[in-house]
Amino acid sequence: MAKDLLKLVDLKKQYSDGRPILRGINLTIPAGQFVGLIGLSGAGKSTLLRCINRLVDPSSGQIWVPGDVFLDGPEASGTIDVAQLKGRQLRRWRRKTGMIFQQFNIVKRLTVIDNVLSGKLGYVNTLQSSLRMFSKEDRELALINLERVGLLSHAYKRASALSGGEQQRVAIARTLMQKPRLILADEPVASLDPKLAETVLDILKRVSQEDGLTTVVSLHTLEMTRRYSDRVIGLAQGEIAFDDLPAHLSEDVVANIYQRYTPDKVTL
Ligand SMILES: Nc1ncnc2c1ncn2[C@@H]1O[C@H](COP(=O)(O)OP(=O)(O)O)[C@@H](O)[C@H]1O
Ligand SMILES: [Mg+2]
Repeated sequence: MAKDLLKLVDLKKQYSDGRPILRGINLTIPAGQFVGLIGLSGAGKSTLLRCINRLVDPSSGQIWVPGDVFLDGPEASGTIDVAQLKGRQLRRWRRKTGMIFQQFNIVKRLTVIDNVLSGKLGYVNTLQSSLRMFSKEDRELALINLERVGLLSHAYKRASALSGGEQQRVAIARTLMQKPRLILADEPVASLDPKLAETVLDILKRVSQEDGLTTVVSLHTLEMTRRYSDRVIGLAQGEIAFDDLPAHLSEDVVANIYQRYTPDKVTL
């Protein structure tokens, strides 16, 4: 049995207006799982992914992770509550947690390889970024990661010359530079047409499997959710409405997650 990589305990979030957005999320994800996250717009999917990554601070609850996987130094033993991390350890957590966004967030005026190399910098260290001090090893790793996403021949093109699907693949290669253990992908294919979406998800799933990564990805179609997920989490109004195998996503369950009005279920 794979050990658990992430355990959320009663995770809650309200923004400054005080409205509860996450209403107590309890969730345990074993290492290596590829989890599909679904739910209506506004259900709290982005908030959940951002709380895990600590782009957003949870209001209460715990985010337990194995310290040895994500941190270093004496604090790295045992299980660590990410919600309590600060400073250097918080930065390290973020570095080991790859974030992929709907809008790719790549720098279009830079070359593809420079975009990938920027993944080495994590979210900070703009000084190094402006000086462009990358080692030979970094450059080799960037080329390896570009090859893994099928874009080696595009390495020295400007990112702006790439299609949306290719830009998202650059974003995956950039994330791999961080040597992440967990990938959080927030609607990574929502801006892409179905064929490109499939290519991107094929790559995301393959690199996750190759590197033994744990991945949580929010998806906007049931077809993709069924096809790629080892497990599906359905969020509705900040609560888990479904947590099971994709094969168990019945019409009733889907109607519940998406809060659809189903007239044939109403008895008069
Ligand atoms: N920074 C914020 N401040 C206040 N409310 C927010 C903020 N971000 C998101 N929300 C609200 O939280 C709810 C859930 O949003 P979100 O997590 O983006 O859901 P989803 O990704 O499932 O569409 C929405 O009602 C949204 O308006
Ligand atoms: Mg969202």
